[in-house]
Amino acid sequence: MSIRIAGTGRYIPEKVLTNADLERMVDTNDEWIRTRTGIEERHIAAENETTSDMAYQAGLQAIEAAGITGSDIDLIIVATTTPDYAFPNTATLLQNRFGAKNAFCFDIYTACTGLISSLEIAFALLESRKTYRHALVFGAEKLSCITNWTDRNTCVLFGDGASCVLLEKDDGAEESALLASALHANGQYANILKLPAGGSAMPACQKSIDENLHTIHMEGKETFKLAVGSMVSACEEVIAQAGISPDDIALVIPHQANIRIIQAVAKRLTVPNEKVYCNVAKYGNTSAASIGICFDEAVRAGQIKRGDIVLMTSFGGGLTWGAILIRY
Ligand code: UT7
Repeated sequence: MSIRIAGTGRYIPEKVLTNADLERMVDTNDEWIRTRTGIEERHIAAENETTSDMAYQAGLQAIEAAGITGSDIDLIIVATTTPDYAFPNTATLLQNRFGAKNAFCFDIYTACTGLISSLEIAFALLESRKTYRHALVFGAEKLSCITNWTDRNTCVLFGDGASCVLLEKDDGAEESALLASALHANGQYANILKLPAGGSAMPACQKSIDENLHTIHMEGKETFKLAVGSMVSACEEVIAQAGISPDDIALVIPHQANIRIIQAVAKRLTVPNEKVYCNVAKYGNTSAASIGICFDEAVRAGQIKRGDIVLMTSFGGGLTWGAILIRY
């Protein structure tokens, strides 16, 4: 039995918010944002555009690339921290729009590590469930709706977007696309990156609104330090698991949070910069969507070819982090 990547897709909302625009909103400047983060602009969803709207567009592309229809889909997983609703889950909303009436649907809530977590789960379910053949895996975020636009420490970092990876099982073939994976979490650091209100710990109330507690709160420096070491060790883990050398990897796709984090990870893995995908300048940090956006861009640009080994690694709230090795 083999599980292969049969299609990918992405969606980036139209509206661009540049560093110059942000200079007019908070006490910041283009030079600081570029040198400290590598970000030049990010895209922001329209007011009435939801996470599921963006995911739907990415999903249409993946379905078209794979040449299947909605009724062929058996499983839909959406990785997001910004679902349309607490419930129903975002995947179920997409099921309805794709006409995927046979699919089981759920959302995954591991912040920026969402896409790689969802991929591992999708591979496992396709493997264990005889009747499942196709899984749609999404990373989709409307972070602009949980961004504090008066906080310069965070508002310059994030953007909106969606991505999709379609997995297909083939009983005849031998090799699975998932070569190795390592997923980790450490709740000891739960407080350094969080959305304080809106859950059972602090339901929406006047105080939560007055104090901007429905927005992302992050201790940037601490997060930065933990991000580099964690991603490097997860990458080393999967490289060892698969028994390959870093030279065998065609492309590394790290989560797009900060160019300095990306470069530090690449340096410690001794992977040359040209093998490290980076689009943080255009989109900022799109959390669960970022790795899939990179993957789709690289596939469509011919930068990844069939048979290539791709290393994906991510880090985010929880804390959660991990790496997966895929043969495209
Ligand atoms: O998505 C998953 C998780 N997220 C991440 O991985 C993000 C990790 N963290 C980072 O990327 C970086 O820590 C940041 C980009 C958030 C911050 O960069 P930094 O080099 O760690 O800066 P800092 O927080 O140490 O701040 C340095 C200075 C401070 O001023 P003082 O206290 O030294 O006077 C900040 O107030 O820069 C100031 N600052 C800004 N200045 C202009 C912070 N934000 C801004 C801003 N514009 N937007």
